[in-house]
Amino acid sequence: MITFRKSALLKAMVKIVGPEGCLVEDADVEPFVVDYKGIYRGNTPVVVRPKTEDEVAQVVQYCHKHGVRVVPQGGNTSMVGGSVPDASGNAIVINLARMNGIYEIDILNDTITVQAGCTLAQVCDAATASGRLFPLRIGSAGSCQIGGNLSTNAGGTAVLKYGNMRDLTLGLEVVLPDGRVWTKLRGLRKDNTGYDLKQLFIGAEGTLGIITAAVLKLAPMPTARSVALVKVPDPRSAIHLLASAKEIAGQAINAFELISPDAMSLVLEHLRLERAPLEGPAGWQILVELTSGGGQQELDEVLMRVLETAQEQQLVQDAILASSNAQIEHLWKIREEISDAQTRAKGSVRCDVSVPISRVGDFIEEASARVLEIAPDARMVIYGHVGDGNVHFNPLRPASVDAKDFLSKFGDAITEAADGLAVSMEGSISAEHGVGVAKRDELRKYKSKVELDLMRSVKRALDPGDLMNPGKMLPEDTVPYPHKIC
Ligand code: FAD
Ligand code: MLT
Ligand code: ZN
Repeated sequence: MITFRKSALLKAMVKIVGPEGCLVEDADVEPFVVDYKGIYRGNTPVVVRPKTEDEVAQVVQYCHKHGVRVVPQGGNTSMVGGSVPDASGNAIVINLARMNGIYEIDILNDTITVQAGCTLAQVCDAATASGRLFPLRIGSAGSCQIGGNLSTNAGGTAVLKYGNMRDLTLGLEVVLPDGRVWTKLRGLRKDNTGYDLKQLFIGAEGTLGIITAAVLKLAPMPTARSVALVKVPDPRSAIHLLASAKEIAGQAINAFELISPDAMSLVLEHLRLERAPLEGPAGWQILVELTSGGGQQELDEVLMRVLETAQEQQLVQDAILASSNAQIEHLWKIREEISDAQTRAKGSVRCDVSVPISRVGDFIEEASARVLEIAPDARMVIYGHVGDGNVHFNPLRPASVDAKDFLSKFGDAITEAADGLAVSMEGSISAEHGVGVAKRDELRKYKSKVELDLMRSVKRALDPGDLMNPGKMLPEDTVPYPHKIC
C-alpha cells in the first residue's frame, strides 16, 4: 500500500537530483509512461533522472523508507511493456539516461566499464574507437541502454557467435531495493567464490534492483565481413544450410537470420522499395554473415563454398553475395526494419519463441498451419535469429481488417497456438524480449509451480516490499494488467 504524499516526495526527489533531474509536467512525462509500441500507458508523479549511482541509492533509500514503488527505465524500447509504470500513479520512474559515462577501457583485459545509462551504440562506438568490438547487435542500439540490455539479457543478431548479454558481462554495480549498493565492478573471467550474484540481476527486468554500472567483455575487431542473402526452399532447408555452413565456416558464422515471404513483402512496403534484392517470388530467405580476423577475399571464398555446397544439396535456390559495404548495410537495413514495419502496420501478434534449432522447421510449419486455421487471411510475418533457435512468429492482420478487431478476435488464440506449440517442443515463450507485462500471465501456465516458487522466493528475499518494478514479470492473481490501452 502506498503511503507517500506527492508534495513530500517531489520535494525529496528535487533535493537529491536537483530540479533539472525531475520531470513532472504531463508533456515532459509522456515519453516515459508510454511504451515503445504504444500499447501500454501508465502514470507517474515524477520521472527522476539521476546522474550518479549515489543519487540512485539516495532516491531508492527514500522510496524504501516511504513505501514508494519504483520503475527502473533505460531507453524504453521494451517489447513487452516492461519499462513503463501502471495506471495507478503509485510508482516513480527512475530513468538512467543521464548516467552515460564510459569509465574505463582496459585493452589488455579486453573489458569496458560503463555507467548503465550509456546507449548500446555509445558503448559500441567507444569500443570501436579503441580498436575492439562490443558484439551485442540489436536494432534499437541508438536508444536502448546497457542497463536495459542487462535487465532483459538482450540477444539480437550476433548471439550465434558471441552469446547474449549474460555471456558478455563480467561485473555489475546494483542499487538494491533497500538502497544499499552492491558493487562488483571487476573484470574477472574466473571467480568461484560462491553464488554468482550478478546472474540474479541479469534478465531480472528491474524487479530486483537498479543496475547502475557494468564491466563488459570486448572482442577483437573483425577484419573481414561477408554477407549473403539466400533463397531457400523452406525453413527446414534453412536449418540444414546452417548445419552445412557450420561444417565449412565454423566459428566464422556471425549471423543467420530467417525472413519469411510475408516479412519480406511487409518490409519492402515499409521502406518503399520497389525491388527486392533477389528477383522472382520472395520465398524464404536467409541473411547469413561471416566475420573473421583474416583476409576479405579468403572469407568471401568460404562463403562461396558454403553456398556452392548448399546448392549441390538443393538447399539453396538463389543467392546474392554483397560486394560492398553499402550493399551489406542495405541488406541489414531490410532485416532490421522488419520490427518497425510491424509497429507501423499495427495489428501484429508478437510471439518471440525459441525451440531447439533442430525443431525450427517443424515449429514454423505446424504453428503456421494452426494460425491459418484460426485466421486464414493473416500475413505470416516470421523472421528471427534461427541460428539460435529463436523465431519471431508474428502473424499480422490483413490490410483490410482493423488492427484492434484483428487483435481482439484472434490475438489470444494465435498466442496460445504459437506459445503452446513452442513449449510442447521444449521451447520458450520468450526467447529474448523478456516477460514484462505482455507475457507475465502466461508464465502461470507454462512455468512449473517449483519454478514460480523459486522465482517468488528470490523476489521476496531481495524485495520483500515489492517496490521494484511491481506487476512485471512475476504473475500475480490480478489479471489482466490494468493499463493496457489497445
Ligand atoms: P527498457 O525498455 O527501458 O527496459 C527494459 C526492462 O529493463 C524493464 O523491465 C526495465 O524496468 C528494466 N531496466 C531498464 N534499465 C534498467 C536498469 N538500469 N536497472 C534495472 N532494470 C532496468 N531485443 C533483443 O533482445 N534483441 C533484438 O534483436 C531486439 N531488437 C529490437 C529492435 C527494435 C527496433 C526495438 C524497438 C527493440 C528491440 N529489442 C530487441 C528489444 C529492446 O530493445 C531490448 O529489450 C533492450 O535490451 C531494452 O533496453 P532499454 O534500455 O530500452 O530498456
Ligand atoms: C528483431 O529481431 O528485429 C527484434 O527482436 C525486434 C522485433 O522482433 O520486433
Ligand atoms: Zn530479435
